[in-house]
This record gives sequence, C-alpha cells and structure tokens, in this order.
Amino acid sequence: MKTVNFRQMRDGTKEEYLFLEQHEKAYAKGLADRILNTLRALETSLSGYLVTRLEHSLQTATRAEADGADEEMVLAALIHDIGDDLCPYNHSQYAASIIRPYVRPEVTWIINQHGLFQNYYYIHFFGGDPNERDYLKGHKWYQACVDFCEKWDQTSFDPDYPTKPLEYFEPLVRKIFARSPFDPQFVGEQTMGKSEVDIALSGIA
Ligand SMILES: [Fe+2]
Ligand SMILES: [Fe+2]
Repeated sequence: MKTVNFRQMRDGTKEEYLFLEQHEKAYAKGLADRILNTLRALETSLSGYLVTRLEHSLQTATRAEADGADEEMVLAALIHDIGDDLCPYNHSQYAASIIRPYVRPEVTWIINQHGLFQNYYYIHFFGGDPNERDYLKGHKWYQACVDFCEKWDQTSFDPDYPTKPLEYFEPLVRKIFARSPFDPQFVGEQTMGKSEVDIALSGIA
C-alpha cells in the first residue's frame, strides 16, 4: 500500500488505519529535530530585547538547571517560548501542548500558565492587573509557577549571563521526546482527551 484509498475518513478500513499509524509513528520520530530547528529559528524572532528569543530560552533553561531543576523542568524552560512565532497571544498554551505527552502534569501546568504569571512583572504598564494570577492561589502548583517565572523566566534577559548553547541541551531534547507519548510512568493516568490540564483549562477545577 502506498496510500489509502478512502476519500472520507468514515470509509477507511482497519488495514488503512494501521498503515497510516506506521506513517505517523515514523514522522513522530523526527519531533526532536523539528523542536531543535524551531528553537534555532527563535534567533530571529521578537526584537527589542538585549537578547534574542533563543538566547532567552537557553538562559531560562541554563538557570533552571543551575538551580537543580530536574530534566523535565529544564526541557520545559528551554521550550517555554517556542510558540512566539505562531501564537503571539497564547504562546504558553502552544508550548504546553507540545510537551504535555512527555512530562508530568505539573510541568505542563506551569508552562501552560507561565504567560499569565509573567504578567505580574509588566502588565500594569498596559492597564492590566498584575495579580490576575491570584485566582489560582491555593492550586498545588501555583508556587512552582511563581518560582519558575521569578527565578528563571523573568531573569533571563541578560546578555552577560553565562548561557549554555543549544548543543548542550540537544541530548535532553532527544531523550525526552523519544519517550512514548502519554506513557503513564511519565505523565500519569491521562489520555489525549482527559487530563488534569484539560480539566484545569475547562475551568472545572
Ligand atoms: Fe513566555
Ligand atoms: Fe520567557
């Protein structure tokens, strides 16, 4: 089989879907390379800062690692702004979606919320409420997200900080994205359609 025959999904056979699954798995193996290439492209995004978006990402990850963060959190720090190009107004959710099948829900939650928590540092200059994040006070990961922003994200715009290069983090990117997606040993009991993150996003919890 070179391609399936169906023109509407409802007409597909089991054999065709098994065939497509093999293609999907083969394509997914290139995920780490696509992540690394997208990070490299951040070199030319968002101007005006003293560092490029790539340098900011690398510095956030470097600081996280220096503070003893585990590798899932270091990876999250590395990719937390990867959505700046395509999701300038909800880049947090973009990055959270990428990492979610591979890391524990806490890490996904922090990345998902980091934009809101970062507002604390500047949104008042635009008339916004810097304490909007307070509605999440009491959440079990609230303080971890505060810390992520305070210690690693908002601090990482310093061109003089000894930031590690992307090559340094490449083995970590390859290691985590080589995991089986939604493997319960890493993400707990969740599936694509039902997770703590989805429930949190729905506003139920
Ligand atoms: Fe961000
Ligand atoms: Fe950031």
